[in-house]
Amino acid sequence: MADELLRYRSEFPILDRTTYLISNSLGAMPQGVYEAMKGYADIWATRGVRAWEERWWMLAAQVGDEIGALMNAAPGSVSTHQNVTTCQAVVASCFDFSGKRNKVVYSDMNFPSVMYFWEAQQACGARVHMVKTEDGITVPLERLLDAIDEQTMLVPVSHVLFRSSYIQDAKAIIEKAHKVGAQVVLDTFQSLGTVPVDVQTLNVDFVCGGVLKWLCGGPGVGYLYVRPDLGKTLQPKFTGWFAHQNAFAFEVGPTRYSEPPFRFMNGTSHIPSLEAARPGLKIIAEVGIERIREKSQRQTSRLLAMAEQRGWRINSPRDTKLRGGTVSIDMSEAEQVCRELLERDILVDYRPKAGVRMAPHFYNKDEELDTAIAAVEEILKTLCRRGV
Ligand SMILES: Cc1ncc(COP(=O)(O)O)c(C=O)c1O
Repeated sequence: MADELLRYRSEFPILDRTTYLISNSLGAMPQGVYEAMKGYADIWATRGVRAWEERWWMLAAQVGDEIGALMNAAPGSVSTHQNVTTCQAVVASCFDFSGKRNKVVYSDMNFPSVMYFWEAQQACGARVHMVKTEDGITVPLERLLDAIDEQTMLVPVSHVLFRSSYIQDAKAIIEKAHKVGAQVVLDTFQSLGTVPVDVQTLNVDFVCGGVLKWLCGGPGVGYLYVRPDLGKTLQPKFTGWFAHQNAFAFEVGPTRYSEPPFRFMNGTSHIPSLEAARPGLKIIAEVGIERIREKSQRQTSRLLAMAEQRGWRINSPRDTKLRGGTVSIDMSEAEQVCRELLERDILVDYRPKAGVRMAPHFYNKDEELDTAIAAVEEILKTLCRRGV
């Protein structure tokens, strides 16, 4: 059957030049970004400071809504920031960790930057409880749920784990957190754009991520969803003039908070990155997450079967329902194999305890997966002959 999503290939210049299997790290750049960047320069050059009023001031909220639409978030509930770490800081600043409820629960399979941030919050009273993986692929759900108790304030966890692509049971985690009065900060960096996310069905408190991977939006745009009822009352201490009800009054004294999404922003927005993010978001919305997920499940299964046939270790779930868009494959000398794949313009990456990560997206051909696996096989044979 013809793969109708392949018609989008012509919108991504790098696909003509490489075997691009690294959308879990950096999605391919849409052709439309050239025009978006030129548009940005033209507006700055011709409209100057008037650009703020005419376009730029509202851009952060507009892009937030475009991201929000992909996760069934109400308009106005998603603010934009530079990255996920900043989003954690905004959320953390809404809470007080000096009381009895000061526990922060997550697993050691979180993205390290998120863990580094929370480790550092111990200086402000946060008490970190880290649940350890047993198999390097999954997080033991029961142990994580048990750790979430009446003293827990926040549960910052990944929806899909960056190392193994395991999909955590976000619903179970959120339900347990709510039962004991805690709140969940779900990192959807590795899910939104390839795995369905519905913030309303999940009834999640906070969602954060970035657009540069599966959303093909480039570096510099992180997003933060805050559940609308929380958004009305929370008061981030990490704040600034963009969050003020009347920013241009330049009032002295404490912030009078505006409504979300600006309530959760702080200083001047990252306009060039916001402009660059839009073409990718538009394409993802047009293709639709359902079609992307369907293809992703088929292609990751194909990769997994080929790797398994060759006896390589699979560091991702075998069950498609539990696996996101990446397959982590470990073999001897995986780091060197990765380097040699890159030399052949087969773009993948290597991560310790994961191996070579291959991440097809809606624009990849099945043949590209076969090419990558055949190349790994050939590289391994050559290394073996060289006695490496
Ligand atoms: C799950 C996850 N969270 C966060 C990040 C990155 O965090 P930040 O946006 O702060 O650089 C990544 C990867 O870059 C990731 O895979």
